[in-house]
Formats: sequence, structure tokens, C-alpha cells
Amino acid sequence: MSLEVRPLAGALGAEVVGVDLRKLDPGDEAALQAAFLEYHVLAIRDQALTRGEQLAFARSFGEPEVHPIVDGTSAHPDVIRVHKPAGESASFGVGWHTDNSFFEAPSGATVLYGEVIPTSGGDTLYANMEEVWATLSEPLRSRLGAMRAVHSASRAYDPALVGSEKYEGTASLTYRYSEAVTAEVVHPIARQHPETGRTSLYVNPMFTQRIEGLSQAESDAILGFLFSHAAEPDHTCRVRWQPGTVTLWDNRCVWHYAMDDYRDHERLMYRVTLAGEVPIPA
Ligand code: SIN
Repeated sequence: MSLEVRPLAGALGAEVVGVDLRKLDPGDEAALQAAFLEYHVLAIRDQALTRGEQLAFARSFGEPEVHPIVDGTSAHPDVIRVHKPAGESASFGVGWHTDNSFFEAPSGATVLYGEVIPTSGGDTLYANMEEVWATLSEPLRSRLGAMRAVHSASRAYDPALVGSEKYEGTASLTYRYSEAVTAEVVHPIARQHPETGRTSLYVNPMFTQRIEGLSQAESDAILGFLFSHAAEPDHTCRVRWQPGTVTLWDNRCVWHYAMDDYRDHERLMYRVTLAGEVPIPA
């Protein structure tokens, strides 16, 4: 078996075949690290991982973290069981976002393992925020480079907005309430990648509330433009899941979007996020 990396789209993303994540040799690890920095999203096919094995693989990219709002499993608090039963709508991760940008030090990477996959639907979309930044005009980049934005979990997790069912422990995915739901943090809009030095647009529709210092109307207009520019199809790729696919993505420079188009089908994933650093202004 030899590791092969096949690009998925022009903007970002690659499929990886010919590797067993339970038995990586130093050459495989180096190839995966290089592909991760080059493609930002790796869909690694044909794995059969226990949660312990998923965590062991995740640790080669960073330190798994416990989510302050979404419950992990009882055996592994740092693994979230993302289950969508047949007959329900999907809600977790539905909408463009960057995982946990509302943390002071947002998650660096995510490792998502697909266990039960619908026969069609349930894909995940990704968008390359380095390319998005590079395709803005220089005068706009220069203005945005001096700005910061406020991020919060509230739009996705406030029970007043999303309902209390998940906080009552009856849903397939359960939450716990704390001040993490409404806390606000401020991050630079132009973020420098700590490993490659490249610049990304670092705002997202799910967690970015407003641009610091602007009126809400000014902020909405600028963010509205940035969000629609960022989501243009030319900046994206799409991962079609198979049972046993592990997708690893770089939250420092990527948005993603879990599709809600498989109502009649079950989907079961296990998610590990890795601790990141406080964003560096570009
Ligand atoms: C997430 O937003 O982390 C979940 C993505 C997915 O379920 O495809």
C-alpha cells in the first residue's frame, strides 16, 4: 500500500488513499502533514477506527480538546458523537462556519470520522479562506487588515434561538449551558497562518457577530459582502463521505458546511477538534 494524494478541486481539498491511519510510518506522517498544509482538507478513505485510534491519529496533528458546550461521549469527553437519526433534520454544523472561532484560542484542526453515511446526501462543503483573501482588492484588504471582529457561540447555541431540547438531554446530540454560550471574543479579520505565514479571511457567518467599532448597519454590509464572496463556488470543494472516511481540515484557513439534505437517512460521525492558538494578525 502506498499513500496517494488526489486533489478534489482547484481551490482546496484532496482525497488520500493507500494508508492505514493505525499504522503510520514516519514517511506517511510527513506526507500527510505536507498534504494538510497544501490542501487544507484531506478526505482519507477506507479507515476502520475505534475512538481510541481516532484520538491517537488526531494527536499527530495536535491536542484534542473538550468542547465547553457540546457533550462528548462518556468514554471520551474529547469526542463528539454527531448523530442525525433518520426522519430528523440535521442541525449540527449546518451553515458556513469555522469550528469554534468563538474560543479565545479557536480549534486548529478537526478530525471527523464517518461511520454511518446516507446512500446520498450528507456531504460536507469546504471553502478556502486564503484564496478568498487573495481575491479581494488590495484597498479592501488593506482596510480589513486593520480591523477586528467579534465572535460568539450564541447564534448556534443560545437556547432562546435554537430551542432548549438539546439542553434537556433528550436529543441525539446534547449541550450544556454556561457563559461560553454568550461570551464574546475579538479576533483579527486578517489572520496569519502560524505554520505557512499565509493570510486568511477570518470571519464566518455562524459565529462572527460584528466588526469592532462599526455600527451594526456598517458591519452587516461589509460582512454580508465578505460572506457572499467567500461562499462563491470557485472557492470551494465538496467531500462525499463513505463509511470509514476520515476528514481532517484546517480551521485556521477553511470554512465548512454540513449539508442537511438526507432527512430520511441516518448519519453518524465522530468529531475531534484540536486545540489551536490565539489568532495572529496578518
Ligand atoms: C462540523 O461542523 O464540525 C460537522 C461537519 C459535518 O458533520 O459534516
